Amino acid sequence: MRHLLSLFDLSQQELHTVLSLAQQIKELLEKGQRPAWLERRVLAMLFEKPSLRTRVSFEAGMCQLGGSAMFLGEEVGWQSRESTADFVRVLAEYADYVVCRAKCHQSVVELARHNCLPIINGLTDHLHPCQALADILTMRQHTRSLAGSQVTFVGDGNNVARSLAIGCAMVGVRFRLLGPADYFISQPYVEEIYTRYPNADFSQTSDFAAGLREADFIYTDVWTSMGQEAESQTRREAFGKFQLNSKLLSLAPRECKILHCLPARRGEEITDDVMDCPNSLVVEQAGNRMHAQKGLLVWLALQHGQLSASDLLSAGIELPLGIS
Ligand code: CP
Ligand code: NVA
Repeated sequence: MRHLLSLFDLSQQELHTVLSLAQQIKELLEKGQRPAWLERRVLAMLFEKPSLRTRVSFEAGMCQLGGSAMFLGEEVGWQSRESTADFVRVLAEYADYVVCRAKCHQSVVELARHNCLPIINGLTDHLHPCQALADILTMRQHTRSLAGSQVTFVGDGNNVARSLAIGCAMVGVRFRLLGPADYFISQPYVEEIYTRYPNADFSQTSDFAAGLREADFIYTDVWTSMGQEAESQTRREAFGKFQLNSKLLSLAPRECKILHCLPARRGEEITDDVMDCPNSLVVEQAGNRMHAQKGLLVWLALQHGQLSASDLLSAGIELPLGIS
């Protein structure tokens, strides 16, 4: 059974397949076509933290693919009313896939361990792989060559940054983290990236010019992620110099594009003028959450024999490598 807890769960070719499906499904939608490839399939959406984009894009994506999604909040008693084994085995009696947003990464690992139905990580304290899928899709749409381009992530080496760093290593994008050294991505995690992808072009710096001068994309996220609210004052002080504003932007190539996973704290990690500048892709990037996840859901359905290549061919999809 296939799960997506981390982008490490996909091979490089599988990542390219998901992105190619996502792109083609987006183009079909733009032509008004919504093939019902997941007709009568059910996605359970188990959320321990708030969400706009992840929740709504998964639900809308499932609906457009002919399936449905059910939101499961606190009332279902995950981690409180019964064991995870009982919980997930029962869930598999009703649903085909789960997307889970959990406070603690180990909780999604534990759900997947029972191998009852595919588990998709919809954000944990550690990773946000669905966000990285949309980020790479967005970069792919705005560069002539993804391989060899550079993204500079300004701020915290957090869940979003960690997933993006893996994704970049997988598709050949140079990844730079620009921020205070105390908040760099941890060394064991960096080593894990190099072990899997020895050619990864990854570095972390606190030097503005070094981090920004070759950026094709500049990305930022909040300084205080969900669950870290008690640290918000310390973090505001640590990250203050790294606000993405016009002064920082002046150190980057003029044509570089702006990314943010959202929600943004305007006036903290990013100023209004940068967020709303003509090179900002943030709204399109949020839109791509849905297209990327539709690609992922269709890929999972193919992996689990719920859909066949001929279903895709009949809608005019050009089969990506690895699908036959
Ligand atoms: N970017 C993102 O995951 O947004 P939500 O928290 O609104 O889902
Ligand atoms: N790093 C942020 C991302 C929100 C989508 C958080 O975890 O709160």
